[in-house]
Amino acid sequence: MCFWANKRVVVTGGAGFFGHFVVERLIAAGVAEVTVPRSRDYDLVDRSAVQRLFADAKPDLVFHLAARVGGIGANRAKPGLFLFENAMMGLT
Ligand SMILES: NC(=O)c1ccc[n+]([C@@H]2O[C@H](COP(=O)([O-])OP(=O)(O)OC[C@H]3O[C@@H](n4cnc5c(N)ncnc54)[C@H](OP(=O)(O)O)[C@@H]3O)[C@@H](O)[C@H]2O)c1
Repeated sequence: MCFWANKRVVVTGGAGFFGHFVVERLIAAGVAEVTVPRSRDYDLVDRSAVQRLFADAKPDLVFHLAARVGGIGANRAKPGLFLFENAMMGLT
């Protein structure tokens, strides 16, 4: 049986530029279920939203590709915000 056939997978950032290619490949590989949490539904900076996502999706695997990105100018304008949000999403 295909490795992916019975796997439930969460792809954070799966609606983003990088993540949507990963979602396409997972679907093509025959994954049982892919969940793409949107920030409007699950703000992954917030630990309780991450816990809710895990309870809702019950994933076997998580690809964590969500990030606050925006190029050099945006990073320079708000370095603390970018560091905080990306660190918290990674930690939670
Ligand atoms: N683009 C590239 O060529 C490339 C190459 C190598 C590595 N990467 C890395 O891949 C990651 C994503 O980059 P990207 O270019 O795909 O960025 P992107 O297009 O801006 O996508 C970022 C995704 O992260 C989600 N997200 C952001 N903040 C969130 C939050 N608080 N809670 C939940 N979801 C949140 C967004 O969801 P919503 O749309 O729902 O807001 C969005 O789908 C970054 O770490 C980047 O460095 C990118």
